[in-house]
Amino acid sequence: MKSKVRISADDKIVVLTGAGISAESGLRTFRDHNGLWDQYKIEEVATPQAFSNNPELVWEFYKLRYDQLGQVFPNPGHLALVELELRIKDNFTLITQNVDGLHGIAGNKNILEIHGSLREIICINCRTKFKFTEIDMGGKIPLCLKCGGNLRPDVVWFGEIPYYLDKIDALLSTADYFLVVGTSGSVYPAAQFLQISKQYGAYTVGVNFDKPDNLVYLDEFHQGKSGEILPQLIDIWLGEHE
Ligand code: APR
Repeated sequence: MKSKVRISADDKIVVLTGAGISAESGLRTFRDHNGLWDQYKIEEVATPQAFSNNPELVWEFYKLRYDQLGQVFPNPGHLALVELELRIKDNFTLITQNVDGLHGIAGNKNILEIHGSLREIICINCRTKFKFTEIDMGGKIPLCLKCGGNLRPDVVWFGEIPYYLDKIDALLSTADYFLVVGTSGSVYPAAQFLQISKQYGAYTVGVNFDKPDNLVYLDEFHQGKSGEILPQLIDIWLGEHE
C-alpha cells in the first residue's frame, strides 16, 4: 500500500465515517446488496411522518437494530482511528453518520455523531433522554419512564436536520487532511463535506469497499475493507512503516 500522507502532531485531520466502517463488526450497511434499505422503505421507517403515522412499524425496524447493538464491538478499522487521535489529540475530529456508537466504545473522544445515536432514546413528549439499556423494549412502542409518552431513538431521520452542522464548516476550512471511510457518498449534507474540504485545500483520502459517488474529489482512494486497510494506512501515516 502506498500513501503520500505523513502526519505530524500539528496537522489537522477531519475523518468522516459511514456504515461501511461497522460492516466488519457485523452491522449491515444501508445501500449495499442485502442492505437495510433493500428490506425496508426509508419513508416507512426513517422519517418523522412515518413515526407519527405508524410508530409500531418504525419500532419494529429499530428493535432489530437494538437486538444487535449490545452484541457488536469495534473492529480494527475503528481501532486504527483511535491510534490516529492519540497521536494528534485535539487536531483530530471524527464526524460520523453512524448511530451505532462504536467509535466511542473503541475509544475515540472527539466525535460528532451528526445522525445522533441509537444508544440514546428520547421522549417525544417531555424530551427526557434515556440510555437504551434503561428502556423496556417489550411493548410495541417503548414508553417514557417519566411521563408515559412515546419514546423514539435519538437519531436524525430523513427530513430532520443533522446535528453539529454549525461547527463543521469551520472544521473543514482548516483541515490539512480529510479522510472518508465506509460511506457511499450519497446522503447529504455529509456527502458534500469531502468536496468542501477539498475546495478549502485539504488533501483528501478515501477508504471504501465500492467506489463512492463522490470519488472525483479524492486525491487518494484505497479500495477494500476498512478493517484491513485502515490499520496499515494509519501506520504509514504515523511513520510506523515506510
Ligand atoms: N469497509 C469499507 N467500506 C465498506 C465495507 C467495509 N468492510 N463494507 C461496505 N462498505 C462501503 C460500501 O461499499 C458502501 O459504499 O460502505 C458504504 C456504505 O454505504 P451506505 O450503505 O449508503 O451507508 P452510509 O453512506 O453510511 O449511509 C449514509 O444514509 O440511510 C442513511 O442515515 C443513514 O447514516 C446513513 C446515511
